[in-house]
Amino acid sequence: MKFFIDTANLNDIAEAQALGVLDGVTTNPSLMAKEGITGAENILAHYKKICDLVEGDVSAEVISTDFEGMVKEGEALAALHPQIVVKLPVIADGIKACKYFSDKGIRTNVTLVFSAGQALLAAKAGATYVSPFIGRLDDISTDGLNLISEIRLIYDNYGFQTQILAASVRHTMHVIDCAKLGSDVMTGPLSAIKGLLKHPLTDSGLAQFLLDYQKGNK
Ligand code: E4P
Repeated sequence: MKFFIDTANLNDIAEAQALGVLDGVTTNPSLMAKEGITGAENILAHYKKICDLVEGDVSAEVISTDFEGMVKEGEALAALHPQIVVKLPVIADGIKACKYFSDKGIRTNVTLVFSAGQALLAAKAGATYVSPFIGRLDDISTDGLNLISEIRLIYDNYGFQTQILAASVRHTMHVIDCAKLGSDVMTGPLSAIKGLLKHPLTDSGLAQFLLDYQKGNK
């Protein structure tokens, strides 16, 4: 399972990268705005900084909602750095743009996916990644993890190569559950990744080992 971090915060990205387990980064316009990154030039420069920090795929989202605009923006983003994956919303023009980019060998991430049908269309259009938002489904009392299972079943039935990128991951249990269900990738905050380390028996066991060592090596 690949681990992506879902942020535009360079410190968090560097910390996850330093752990040695990071496979990529996802961003979206809200995450960029949260870091105060505004204006086309600054946004492109920020994507470059992210690409310089990590080795894996970096999803960069288009703002346009029409086919021509998405193609223009996506081509500019893809030309920025080989690690860039063009992130497109799952609307009709987004699916058309996905097909256009996949025919040209440009990698895509189809985002804002909330149903198995949307994920099926994204795979048909040749998406590299499909991003079901599990946390936002949970927020409206709908089982986000069930969507991961449905997409896994459909993709396996037909051998679609599109990778399931579980998005809107909010906490550590989401990461573990997505791994159990066979999600190819998860993207979440640094806290969800670091949370995987936590166990009180590890902490107390380590404290005891160190105490016993000190007693025997006075
Ligand atoms: C995914 O690509 C999105 O950036 C993200 O996971 C959305 O998460 P949120 O629902 O926590 O905003």
